[in-house]
Amino acid sequence: MSKPLKQIHLAAHFPGVNNTTVWSDPQAGSHVEFASFAHLARTAERAKFDFLFLAEGLRLREQNGLIYDLDVVGRPDTFAVLAALAAVTDRLGLAGTINSTFNEPYEVARQFASLDHLSAGRAAWNVVTSWDAFTGENFRRGGFLTPDQRYERARTFLETAWELFDSWHGDEIVADRESGVFLGDPEAGAFEHHDAHFDISGRFNVPRSPQGRPVIFQAGDSDEGREFAAAGADAIFSRYGTLAEGQAFYADVKGRLARHGRSRDHLVILPAATFVLGDTDAEAHELAHEIRLKQVSGQSAIKFLEQLWNRDLSAHDPDGPLPAIDPDPGENTVARGRASVRMYRDPIATARQWRELAEAKQLSSRELIIEVTGRQTFVGAPETVATSINDLVQADASDGFILVPHITPGGLDAFADTVVPLLQERGVFRTEYEGSTLRDHLGLPEVPAAPRAAKVAS
Ligand SMILES: Cc1cc2nc3c(=O)[nH]c(=O)nc-3n(C[C@H](O)[C@H](O)[C@H](O)COP(=O)(O)O)c2cc1C
Repeated sequence: MSKPLKQIHLAAHFPGVNNTTVWSDPQAGSHVEFASFAHLARTAERAKFDFLFLAEGLRLREQNGLIYDLDVVGRPDTFAVLAALAAVTDRLGLAGTINSTFNEPYEVARQFASLDHLSAGRAAWNVVTSWDAFTGENFRRGGFLTPDQRYERARTFLETAWELFDSWHGDEIVADRESGVFLGDPEAGAFEHHDAHFDISGRFNVPRSPQGRPVIFQAGDSDEGREFAAAGADAIFSRYGTLAEGQAFYADVKGRLARHGRSRDHLVILPAATFVLGDTDAEAHELAHEIRLKQVSGQSAIKFLEQLWNRDLSAHDPDGPLPAIDPDPGENTVARGRASVRMYRDPIATARQWRELAEAKQLSSRELIIEVTGRQTFVGAPETVATSINDLVQADASDGFILVPHITPGGLDAFADTVVPLLQERGVFRTEYEGSTLRDHLGLPEVPAAPRAAKVAS
């Protein structure tokens, strides 16, 4: 008997600051106005997507001391946006990225429990440790915690938040209206937690929410990050959207679950993916190239080069060859808050590879940057894109995708209208929501109320 087809999970990423959005397109809208968020959320819900996703960026990124050119759009607060979206959607999950490095568990647990109530069980928390000290300077602790200490804080932060979520059991609010007698548990919400990072006790003041605990996402990629996900996350936002890389990541993370006593089905793996649709494959490929040219202007290409070279290259000609000089291998002082900087672990070796590639393919600096950064994941006619997505999911390269449109907020419309019906026809994507909570959509088990005796933990 052949294996039953896996059901695909799909989500919509509202792009904050990024290198994907084509700002120059006349259809591009605001990244701050609520109408944009509402448009993307409604499209995602119309298409029966699992959830809408917001990343987190807590500081405007800089390059050579100036705001990085794609950052000026700003990024409104996650909880305010998701709470407002809860009011204009009914079933769509609402996932927010909130770091565990600069916040406090009581505050974050209250916010997510509140969002879960307001949305009737649709909240998800993407727990990130955040990239760098630069972001931390915004907070009272300054740079705070070195990267190697951040996962330890994340682990105990999440455990503490769970204790808070579990401090109510769901049966407390049983006051007898007629007699006016409160029949509930007088211990409701009591918690106590003491460890190296948190020394807190008190009463949690938000009753148990519809999902008990929000769905937990994780997005780090190191061994520690993967272990953190395997131990406690319900889903992973990954960067591996291709067959070979996706399968390797999927096998690695799913393989860690047994050690934590968890089932393989209880961790959903969702890479970020971009897409370009056309009436034919050829038209889509042509369009994809035009989009890449808009995503990487000559000026943006120089900015990308400076991030690797760690030097001022403002006088460099983007239409000429790569800089002949090697990158400055010292601490990166040109770019601050840019995730890509951390990805170039050996800048001199990367520059050498880039030069070899540029020479082999006769590429200018700008063309080389177009080649090595952010190529679209799915390009083709709707039929081709539906097939690629389904093939990757059935081959265990992922359980679905978090789609990042290049036009905000209308960039998902065509996908919803053309690709989703094809996936539905093939029986691999829902035609209606079956449950009402995000846990239902993702096929995750319910979180039972904690037994009363286990309520207070150290
Ligand atoms: C796909 C992906 C998305 C991420 N999104 C965010 C984000 O939105 N905000 C943030 O502060 N950090 C984000 N991170 C950073 C992680 O939280 C983490 O700090 C970083 O990856 C370093 O951990 P690692 O060494 O385990 O990868 C993301 C990481 C990955 C891999």
